[in-house]
Order: sequence, then C-alpha cells, then structure tokens
Amino acid sequence: KSISLIGVPMDLGQMRRGVDMGPSAIRYAGVVERLENIGHTVRDRGDVLIEAAERVQDPSTNLRNLKAVAKGNTELAITVDKVITEGDFPLVLGGDHSIAMGTIAGLARHYSNLGIIWYDAHGDLNTGETSPSGNIHGMPLAVSLGIGHPTLTSIHGDSPKIKPENIVIIGARSLDEGERTLIKEKGIKVYTMHEVDRLGMTQVMDETISYLKEKNLDGVHLSLDLDALDPQEAPGVGTPVPGGATYRESHLAMEMLEESKLITSAEFVEVNPILDEKNKTAATAVALIGSLFGEKLL
Ligand code: ARG
Ligand code: MN
Ligand code: MN
Ligand code: MN
Repeated sequence: KSISLIGVPMDLGQMRRGVDMGPSAIRYAGVVERLENIGHTVRDRGDVLIEAAERVQDPSTNLRNLKAVAKGNTELAITVDKVITEGDFPLVLGGDHSIAMGTIAGLARHYSNLGIIWYDAHGDLNTGETSPSGNIHGMPLAVSLGIGHPTLTSIHGDSPKIKPENIVIIGARSLDEGERTLIKEKGIKVYTMHEVDRLGMTQVMDETISYLKEKNLDGVHLSLDLDALDPQEAPGVGTPVPGGATYRESHLAMEMLEESKLITSAEFVEVNPILDEKNKTAATAVALIGSLFGEKLL
C-alpha cells in the first residue's frame, strides 16, 4: 500500500493538555519504520495546522473551543480529501477524538456509503445539549451523523456524512444518557465490553465484518480511540475507563480487519504522552497499526 500519514496535534476538543503531542509520540514510537518493514510505502505529510486558540469560552455556546476545533477539522478534511484523490491510504494520527469529524468529512467526498468501526470506550455521540462536559471529543460520531452544532455538521460539505446502519461501535463501557437514547433511536450496532467478554473478540469481529459486508459499502473507516484498551495497557489517555479490551484482543481485532480487506482509511487518537508511562500508549498504537497493515510473525 501507499500510505499517507497525517498528524493532527489537536487538544482543543477536551481539557487535558498534552494530547497535541500524540502524533510526535506515535512517530517517535516508530510508525514509519514499522510500516516500511511490512513493505508499504509511507509518505509523512506532517501535521495539520492547529491554531493556538484562546481558551476563553464563547458565551453563546457550551461547546468548548468551537471555532478553533471547526477550523482545524476543516484543514484536516481538506488534507484527507487530497490524499484520497492522490490515491493514498489516509492514516490519521491524533490528537483528541474531535478530529474524527474532519477525517470523516474528508472521506465523505469520496465515499457515498461509508462504513465506520468505532473502537472506543465511549460512544462520542453527544451534542451540545446532551454533553456532560462541553468537550467536543465526546461528539464526533453524532456530528458525522449530522446531529449537533451546525458549525460542526457543515464542515467540508453537506450533512450527514455517514448513515447510522453503517456504524459498529466496539469496546463501549461509558455512555451518557443522551448517547443511549441516540443509539436506540438510530439502531446503531454496539458491542459493549459485556459482549466482548461474553462472545470473545473473535466472534465480535466476525459478526462486525459480516454485518458490514452486507451493507454494500464503498469504504470502511476505522476510528480507534486508544481508551478502548484497558488503562493498564494504554495509560496515556485523557479519559481512561477501567475494564477495557486487552492488548491481545485488540491485536486480534486488527488482524481480523486486515484479513477482511475492508478497511480503506484509519485513525488512531487520544494518545497523550504527558499522561503516559514511557510512551507505552504510543508504542501500543504502533503495534496495532502493524497488525492492521499486515505484520505477520511467520
Ligand atoms: N462522554 C464523555 C463526554 O462527552 C466522555 C467522552 C470521551 N471521548 C473521547 N473521545 N475520549 O465528555
Ligand atoms: Mn474514548
Ligand atoms: Mn473517542
Ligand atoms: Mn496477533
């Protein structure tokens, strides 16, 4: 594959500083070499420009840093759009999860029936009205469905960018009330940690892959929030939740996705080296990227 790396040093979608250093931490953990050793061609496009925002809340909204988050995501959408036009596989490195809005907006210009695998402890299905925090990193999946603040839903093209029946959430264990309502209302497929425990990751991924294969999708995007993994294995995240997927389960998930040949774009988000232990979380991200892109022992 010809892979384009896009770094997004975004930390305005939440309150803990340091997640803007995620792309550097993942590069430092050797992502380029890892992909090249598998035999891929890697073009590192550098980082999307994220302006230093004044952290002063606009009184007309409870969405924190709304304008700056929208601006950075517009830049990202333009970059992702361009990378696909040039025929490369976009691999986006975050940054907080608000960047999924920009990635998906860029993808939506090229895919009219895009599938989404949302590997995350959270649903990220809040709106300004349902959010307990005002943090936009808790909203990108709703925004991509066309639900939320118009400044966000209108990024890089008409809303909605994706359809609820094309989404599979895996690893959920923290959902807010409004998110539960939305999941039921829209019929979004969710494998919570209960199902991961009960069925095992093999069955969860087999079912996910068959479910998406039935939808006649023209592409599938993997949006992987490192907090889907257990905090013991991925401590460098801003919103850790106990009881997550293990390193091995997550590897297996990536390997099964690689075998399925479904994935056409991916992003790895929420790596915060300031909260991490010796870059462990970035190293985990790189190991998962290795599996997703076909690394084999034998
Ligand atoms: N549901 C919570 C909120 O809306 C937490 C969201 C965490 N999202 C994330 N991408 N880590 O604030
Ligand atoms: Mn999360
Ligand atoms: Mn998330
Ligand atoms: Mn393995």
